[in-house]
Amino acid sequence: TWVLWNDRLVKDEDIHLSKEDRGYQFGDGIYEVIRIYDGSMFTATEHINRFYNSADQIKLIVPFTKDVFHKMLYDLIEANEVVSGQVYVQITRGASPRQHQFPTNMVEPVLTAYTKEVERPVSQMANGVSAKTVEDIRWLRCDIKSLNLLGNVMAKQEAHEAGCFEALLHRGDSITEGSSSNMYGIKDGVLYTHPVTNLILNGITRSVILDCCKEIGLPVVEEPMSLKTIFANDEFFMSSTTAEIMPIVMIDGKKVAEGLPGDWTKKLQTALEAKIL
Ligand code: PDD
Repeated sequence: TWVLWNDRLVKDEDIHLSKEDRGYQFGDGIYEVIRIYDGSMFTATEHINRFYNSADQIKLIVPFTKDVFHKMLYDLIEANEVVSGQVYVQITRGASPRQHQFPTNMVEPVLTAYTKEVERPVSQMANGVSAKTVEDIRWLRCDIKSLNLLGNVMAKQEAHEAGCFEALLHRGDSITEGSSSNMYGIKDGVLYTHPVTNLILNGITRSVILDCCKEIGLPVVEEPMSLKTIFANDEFFMSSTTAEIMPIVMIDGKKVAEGLPGDWTKKLQTALEAKIL
């Protein structure tokens, strides 16, 4: 398969990365995951904008225009003939002798991207999954899609070891998001989700879902949900590029309502599907 290495498409085995790449040593870089449906990228512009915004937030200058970047990803997907899958792209501050402060401007950032064929998780979306609550101990810039994912990794592992699909993160009593997803509760015909602040990643799927809520007439309240009252929700779900709208039917081993995907959740899944298929 082909991979993107800076501005070139090369064979996987021809990519060479330095042991002193700052992404490798410091997690000094940012990334995106974009879903490919039927050969084309879903919400590509939004993902590309967020990529440039994350880079900007860490003072990393992407050395291509957005149009050129879009074209490069497009060419990669074409070259690999991906039908249903995803593209992962990251950029680091580059390779230079290890020191914490930024290297000089002479050091070029290192961009890598590759594709993967993946099916939509249809059976999990139909049946729902379980989540484990985990204290959110991440840093205070969760709005940046940075390569520093240790807090997310530790939380997901804890959920995984408990046999759960996702970690439901909370800062004290306040529910923030998932380890790699956004979180939503529905109670008495109103959808609740954390507002866009430094404490969550502003999910592209989240924005699409808020549009879907308008379409189906589901009112939205953007405020943090309380962990204490989590089982007062009629429905619960998570969202991400790869998980789409994933019902959460069990939290910490206890059923949410009847323990089945809820009606509003199913309506939202249908509305989202209409946009992607
Ligand atoms: N994760 N919150 C976090 C912490 C995330 O890592 C993600 C995405 C989201 C959802 O964002 P979006 O809807 O734009 O995918 C929220 C990606 C898929 C990942 O790291 O694999």
